[in-house]
Amino acid sequence: SQRKEIDDTLAAFALSPTQLQEVKAKMRVELERGLKKDSHPTASVKMLPTYVYRTPDGTERGKYLALDLGGTNFRVLVVKIRTGMRNSVRMYNKIYAIPLEIMQGTGEELFDHIVQCISDFLDYMGMKNTRLPLGFTFSFPCNQTGIDKGDLVCWTKGFKATECEGYDVVDMLREAIKRRNEFDLDIVAIVNDTVGTMMTCAYEDPKCQIGLIAGTGSNVCYMEEMKNIEFVEGDEGQMCVNTEWGGFGANDNIEDIRTRYDREVDGGSLNPGKQRFEKMTSGMYLGEIVRRILIDLTKHGLLFRGRITERLKTKGIFETKFLSQIESDRLALLQVRSILQHLGLDSTCDDSIIVKEVCGAVSRRAAQLCGAGMAAVVDKIRENRGLDNLEITVGVDGTLYKLHPHFSTILKDTVRELAPNCKVDFILSEDGSGKGAALITAVIDKYLYAMR
Ligand code: BG6
Ligand code: GLC
Repeated sequence: SQRKEIDDTLAAFALSPTQLQEVKAKMRVELERGLKKDSHPTASVKMLPTYVYRTPDGTERGKYLALDLGGTNFRVLVVKIRTGMRNSVRMYNKIYAIPLEIMQGTGEELFDHIVQCISDFLDYMGMKNTRLPLGFTFSFPCNQTGIDKGDLVCWTKGFKATECEGYDVVDMLREAIKRRNEFDLDIVAIVNDTVGTMMTCAYEDPKCQIGLIAGTGSNVCYMEEMKNIEFVEGDEGQMCVNTEWGGFGANDNIEDIRTRYDREVDGGSLNPGKQRFEKMTSGMYLGEIVRRILIDLTKHGLLFRGRITERLKTKGIFETKFLSQIESDRLALLQVRSILQHLGLDSTCDDSIIVKEVCGAVSRRAAQLCGAGMAAVVDKIRENRGLDNLEITVGVDGTLYKLHPHFSTILKDTVRELAPNCKVDFILSEDGSGKGAALITAVIDKYLYAMR
């Protein structure tokens, strides 16, 4: 019957407790492989060093510029941190658009555009002549050799500018500033958004030692023991590691849970074969998975009276915000239908029920997969410290986590089930990772000041 066909399609997205345990176990293996000298260069989970050795302690101070590139919004910020008191951070920021042709144009055009936005911001703030230290949140994998040095490993998500991969991001920014020849900046730190988020949250809660992004992309960072990071000199203390867990699956180890829809989405992406875990768990791709399923169901005459419209054939129509609205329990089915109408899809009441089920299956799996990955991370930290029980806080940001009505609940439930010896709190980052970049810059500043 029709019902059975729909159930069969969605069954592929329902992961059993055993399957989730397996995902956790495999993630753990990849975390370890990424930390070992021999396997690090080819690991699917890259485990990139960040040169951030500790979270803020509340004594940071100063005035900083920050850039925040790689999420939904590109922002330029000024962050003022006052001494002594916690919560005494002030921020001014402006959001700038990055047109698609610049995201996917040449590297020079991209960095010229960034510097153009900084210039506009400095004019706006009346700060052209104050040379402030700058922290650069750059939410892509970077091979760092210092806090202010990082070669872009590869673009992810929607970026694909040419002549950037393999090059130092800080150098590219410095050169663009030189080309413009209008103002000078001290670029002090390059920071992944996970790290910025962890730092932002750690400023409020010292137990925060993990950063999670569930947004356009998906990624985690955490404080690792230096002695476990084999490819970085030194054995004392800790360093934050940017896992880049979005790359999980690159060695075909989760093919058993990938569906044909995941493969279709991957094939139609800017980076086929890469970021397989990210493509099952993050905002940029969930709507695409849904769309592919809907097309398939329509082909089989199970939806939209069997008519595949041009709209349904259009890549990217199901943004995270629509998924979130469709799945909201407060929304009547009639409203679901009006959202679909808004997307150019004429639906019956039955259609709207099915669409809601499809969205639910895809987002539930995403949240469970993130939860399984997180369970691997917290258990690793617990074992690192030789503890039977661990209490730890995760700082979180990202549109999927923030907007979706069920994602965070399912994620937390999954972590609780898969890592029963860890008590994991999740706190939202209210100010994005730009503030975290400024805090890192402040930590360095303080260190440099002490050296003088
Ligand atoms: C924000 C950060 O806090 O979260 C961004 O400032 C980051 O840099 C973002 O990428 C992740 O969310 P999204 O959903 O915008 O990708
Ligand atoms: C992608 C990027 C990663 C970033 C994440 C979340 O996975 O590769 O660096 O942290 O998206 O924005």
